[in-house]
Amino acid sequence: MTGDEPVEESESGEPLADGGAAGADDVALDPWGSSAVSDYRKLFEEFGIEEFDELLEEVPNPHYLMRRGVIFGHRDYRPVAEALRKGEDAAVLSGFMPTGDPHIGHKLVFDEIIWHQQQGADAYGLIADLEANSARGMSWDEIDEHARDYLLSLLALGFDPDEGTLYRQSTNREVQDLAFEIGADANFSEFQAIYGFDGETDVSHMQSVVTQMADILYPQLEGAKPTVIPVGPDQDPHVRLARDLAERTRFFKVSKAYASFELDPDEHELVADFHEKLDPADFDDDALRCVHVAEAIEETPLEELAVPADTLSSVLTKLEEAGMEPVRPRTRFFDRRATDEAFDALIDAIDGEKRVYENHVDAFELEVGEAEELAREVEVENGGYGFRPPSSIYHRFMTGLTGGKMSSSVPASHISLLDDPEKGYDKVKSATTGGRETAEEQREKGGKADECPVYELYAYLLAGDDDEFAKRVYDECVGGERLCGDCKEQAAQLMKEFLEEHQEKRAEVEELLEEADIELESPRKT
Ligand code: TRP
Ligand code: SF4
Repeated sequence: MTGDEPVEESESGEPLADGGAAGADDVALDPWGSSAVSDYRKLFEEFGIEEFDELLEEVPNPHYLMRRGVIFGHRDYRPVAEALRKGEDAAVLSGFMPTGDPHIGHKLVFDEIIWHQQQGADAYGLIADLEANSARGMSWDEIDEHARDYLLSLLALGFDPDEGTLYRQSTNREVQDLAFEIGADANFSEFQAIYGFDGETDVSHMQSVVTQMADILYPQLEGAKPTVIPVGPDQDPHVRLARDLAERTRFFKVSKAYASFELDPDEHELVADFHEKLDPADFDDDALRCVHVAEAIEETPLEELAVPADTLSSVLTKLEEAGMEPVRPRTRFFDRRATDEAFDALIDAIDGEKRVYENHVDAFELEVGEAEELAREVEVENGGYGFRPPSSIYHRFMTGLTGGKMSSSVPASHISLLDDPEKGYDKVKSATTGGRETAEEQREKGGKADECPVYELYAYLLAGDDDEFAKRVYDECVGGERLCGDCKEQAAQLMKEFLEEHQEKRAEVEELLEEADIELESPRKT
């Protein structure tokens, strides 16, 4: 789930279909487990999620959640940022499992979708009702009720249903067809490795995975474009799989290459090194040939090469076998799954010098970037999708108001967007804080805003777009000028106002929802 994760054990009341796979480990990312993340740095190191801060400057009008580090990580967000900057096509999509009330954790995702829509992206919000039914055992009646609540909040916060797309998985035939098709490229062993599925996992749960893959690629059915999936980091396994599967559907793989043979990345790097170092003028007829590179490598002391022995021997074999063939750098189109017509069309479409082999075409006058565009064009003209690997951004999970995880099953730990405003006020008033034992100590040492759920409320929600206000609360807290009693009173009051206003808006958008192009009642029963 996107806004709030650690809920399912108690909600379904049953053991998880995946046995809670990796839920016990703090940094394991498990879409259906309890994903509290204790150390965000590990997500960078172990999972290769990148730091959002590093590209903040490339993002036009960054949202406050980006500016404040609430959105802390991403995968391959650059193409999306670039498209937004240049006013080119881009899309944003996220999904919600209708298993309970939408709460302030989900609001982060609503805001992310809406912000991208306002920056010009095609926006998609979907109700993951098949997943809620299969992975969480929700009945269709419950699903309908919650779905409505999610949609009303999304609209109330500013989603434009005329510009954007809303759908539910169960009634979107295109998504289901795409899911079936993509399913042909995924197998059980992979699901086992990624999600910890086993022989007991029911088939519908597996289907909900391919359905989510189709959700993620759905915006690109109308044309390949950079697409961002804003989610919590627990959804990263889905994102990685979707990126993989998107790639597997592609007709051609474009890469840089030397000579006519395939090199793995380490081998490629070694040859690239020598290609750069060696001067063709030093050889007969001014051409650098494979045997020359092989000889140069052999003359280099092992410790300078710094490559594993098997890489070395395989690269030497390839170079020696190719003998007098020129090394000549080139851009390669490898034929992954193109039809014969598509392969022929590609050959025709390549400008300049080219060489055609059984399973690839080498182009000598094309940059990799141009080649990728060309490969996509040819693929699309020949009936392929040309998918770009989807990107993602990840937001931090909110701390529960009672400390620990924010959990839908512990009402005091979260604030539902449907909570009575007075109740929201009370919840904030009784929240734990990062305050000191006594007022005196607080004045002396300052509060621990970084560990304070109330400060989080300000930063994630209550301060809205007002960075100065958020910073003031922080500075006053850690500087000892702010005491928890007053601070909570202010936060509680703001929360009450937010809920009042949000609920008024929800009432106002009822009509919008009725008019929107999404089925509110499931045809299915039980
Ligand atoms: N699995 C998501 C969740 O647990 C819901 C979901 C379904 C989703 N399809 C999606 C999220 C596509 C992002 C993109 O909440
Ligand atoms: Fe938290 Fe406010 Fe207390 Fe600081 S003063 S610890 S922000 S409640």
